[in-house]
Amino acid sequence: MKRTLIAGLISASMATGAMAAESVEVLHWWTAGGEAAALGVLKKDLESQGVSWNDMPVAGGGGEAAMTALRARVTSSNPPSAVQALGFDITDWAKQGVVADLNTLASKEGWDKVVPKALQNFSKFEGKWIAAPVNVHSTNWVWANKAVLEKAGVTTMPTSWDGFIAALDKVQKAGFIGLAHGGQAWQDATLFDGVVLATGGVDFYNKAFVQKDEAALKSPTMKKSFDRMAQLRSYVDKDFSNRDWNLASAMVIEGKAGFQIMGDWAKGEFLNAKKVPGKDFMCFRVPGTQGMVSFNSDQFLMFKVGAASQGAQMKLAKAIMNPNFQSAFNVVKGSVPARTDVSNAAFDDCGKKGMADLAEANAKGTLVGSMAHGHAVPASIKNGFYDVITQHFNGTMTSAGATMAMAEAVQ
Ligand code: GAL
Repeated sequence: MKRTLIAGLISASMATGAMAAESVEVLHWWTAGGEAAALGVLKKDLESQGVSWNDMPVAGGGGEAAMTALRARVTSSNPPSAVQALGFDITDWAKQGVVADLNTLASKEGWDKVVPKALQNFSKFEGKWIAAPVNVHSTNWVWANKAVLEKAGVTTMPTSWDGFIAALDKVQKAGFIGLAHGGQAWQDATLFDGVVLATGGVDFYNKAFVQKDEAALKSPTMKKSFDRMAQLRSYVDKDFSNRDWNLASAMVIEGKAGFQIMGDWAKGEFLNAKKVPGKDFMCFRVPGTQGMVSFNSDQFLMFKVGAASQGAQMKLAKAIMNPNFQSAFNVVKGSVPARTDVSNAAFDDCGKKGMADLAEANAKGTLVGSMAHGHAVPASIKNGFYDVITQHFNGTMTSAGATMAMAEAVQ
């Protein structure tokens, strides 16, 4: 009798998974050096709590391939515990009714008080927390190799668009690549975030990209933005097509190129290469966008999983929102904490500037959601914008044609 009873108990508990070690499966696209280093902080954190980490990396900057892989997993009713997700993609998944409810944990830990409203707009759906935000990145940054600029006679960081073009010219004439860039739609759109902000300012950016106002999309300001993208196109090297973003960062790190316009995940590559801000490289806002921030937050969206896996999932959410983790992770990632109660003590000068810029933009109403990284419009429209921007950058569409096409992309 006894033996069968014990056998029965073991098989029953194995069935519910109570006996299995706690584990989380996490789908993400952090495959570059700096990103993997930052993710390592979270993995170690979970493993120190006895939760094993089942990694599901899907390479491809900007996360498009990751979202495709996620759709396949959800369609086969086998979602991962958590997924790196951006802005409106989170909202779109929430509408499918497949995401977990983090509300009990969130209210116990007071997330509402420390996470900026601009992030909560995406972390919550119908008033309930469904995602844990790990950071705030921003896209209107320029990264520059200090030695290259000095050799080219660029002694001050440009603050105006014409000053930036003049600096790019000097770098190119000195024999370096002016602008390191990867010719992928999401990267072209990342440049466009900053160019539209520099050309039309925050109100125009919101009118065009958030309100999708037809007049704004078809305006002379939008056309001028495309003209400026054509200017940037003349400073990239001939092999830019389909280059991954981190390889473009490497061109600046290694002194082959003077500048890269990229989100501050690029700083993670500079740090991973042991470069020091102010000594080896400079970080400054896309000229003409000082005081403005186009942000995107990486949030871990939690999916509905079986009862046996929920404990580990909550441990993951709690670990992500831990203030100490938020400092340790973001120092490496190049982003700033998602929580407003984290000290900037551990951050370098670029990180401190990022935190100050975010606080200032939040207070002044000059914080906008990055169109390129899913924080202005849903993917269905974002991808329409991508197509126009990348065709124009590759020279198959004029600025006038692209301006008309932006309005059509919204239809
Ligand atoms: C962004 C994401 C960053 C980084 C970047 C490059 O969308 O927020 O964390 O992954 O893409 O892939």
